[in-house]
Amino acid sequence: MEQYDVIVIGGGPGGYVCAVRAAQLGLKTACVEARPTLGGTCLNVGCIPSKALLHASHMYHEAKHNFERMGIKRSATSVNWERMLAYKDETISANTTGIEFLFRKNSVAWLKGQGRIIEQGKIDVDGTVYEAANIVIATGSVPSSLPNVEIDETVIVTSTGALALKSLPASLTIIGAGIIGLELGSVYARLGSKVTVLEYLDRITPGIDDEVAAAFAKILVKQGITITLGAAVQSATVKRGKASVAYSLQDGSDGKVNSDVVLVATGRKPFTAGLGAEACGIKTDAAGRIVTDAAWRTSIDGIFAIGDVTDGPMLAHKAEDEGMAVAETIAGRAGHVNYGVIPSVIYTHPELAAVGRSEEELKAEGRSYRVGKFPFIGNGRAKAAFAADGFVKLLADAASDRILGCHLIGPAAGDLIHEVCVAMEFGAAAEDLARTCHAHPTYSEAMREAALACGDGAIHA
Ligand code: NAI
Repeated sequence: MEQYDVIVIGGGPGGYVCAVRAAQLGLKTACVEARPTLGGTCLNVGCIPSKALLHASHMYHEAKHNFERMGIKRSATSVNWERMLAYKDETISANTTGIEFLFRKNSVAWLKGQGRIIEQGKIDVDGTVYEAANIVIATGSVPSSLPNVEIDETVIVTSTGALALKSLPASLTIIGAGIIGLELGSVYARLGSKVTVLEYLDRITPGIDDEVAAAFAKILVKQGITITLGAAVQSATVKRGKASVAYSLQDGSDGKVNSDVVLVATGRKPFTAGLGAEACGIKTDAAGRIVTDAAWRTSIDGIFAIGDVTDGPMLAHKAEDEGMAVAETIAGRAGHVNYGVIPSVIYTHPELAAVGRSEEELKAEGRSYRVGKFPFIGNGRAKAAFAADGFVKLLADAASDRILGCHLIGPAAGDLIHEVCVAMEFGAAAEDLARTCHAHPTYSEAMREAALACGDGAIHA
């Protein structure tokens, strides 16, 4: 029976990163993955393919709406959907084969097949049993659905089907105004689909700072997306290839939307089917998540769990950080994740990004804070790029000036946020950011201006 120091189950961002780091730390490591390619949901049917389509559809939008304003002549611009999907698939493949390369480079064995934990230290992979001193569960999550909504991945789709539609839908109904719904809604709205979003709550993007979410909703509506709030979806049906979604509103009235395609984006749930976790006594909570302690240990010695299958935000980078930390812990080092500084990004145009506390959280905690805000309309670079929608909002402790959170909507927000992540990791004050020289003209000057606004005031607002 082949023996390993570490066997990771799942080759997504949590699992493959954990395997690479474990191998780098000198542990004999294998990773079990049943999919024909590595990279999990993120690389195959999530983050990466959606970013390819977001990029392509944004380019199309720029060509149609901004090229002529900039003096670039164009003949009719149109979409070749088949080619766009092929580009998306090429992007996936370039990334998944990259992970295979990393496994070879670091001598991580890829055990191809379905992994099932038999007992502490033993895993079955499609009939072959392996021994491992340490097992790391990184099996991720799958889309969750609603009662009376049957997914067929053709007309009623999850994000997986929405990334591979046979043709561009003339109309698309999206259930759920969360990250998936709005990212994919943006793609199809830009490509010409009539997009209607039905959201149960009275706001979009739960968890995002209220003020930023409200500004985001306005921008999406300006982009042509219809958003109905307070809409509890009751059912979705398909007749002769067309879908109909029935919902009820908070005032008791009912509504219906007909469309070519329905995207169900109402959240994801932990994936543990076939893993054998229950049979060997690994504790799960009411939501089906594997319960761990602060060092990612499950209720069974030598078995760890990380990423979407555990508690916390379902984000690839959270899983990656846990993957590295658990590998370090197994290798006898001090693995650590700072859950207070995990950024969150929505890759629409403009992008949204957030880290740390929201203003609502600070109010609820009764903490005294200062707000520094700066609109991108005061940023020269953003104006030149037709990207001046949005603003930066920095929150700092009223007494110590320590940065507590940052929320922004605007160009490259998903990159800009990391300036604040680093600052927060170092316990920086808003003044530290404000006194740091920022190159001109860059979008990042807006971050500095928001920090200046926490003190004596921004210059360009
Ligand atoms: P989500 O939890 O972000 O949003 C789901 C939305 O559906 C919520 O606003 C909820 O109120 C609404 N909803 C639930 N039931 C409903 C009903 N019956 N009728 C109408 N609306 C209803 O979930 P989403 O967008 O599916 O994403 C799943 C996970 O994947 C999230 O944890 C997200 O963070 C992660 N993700 C992250 C990305 C990123 O970091 N850029 C990209 C895509 C996904």
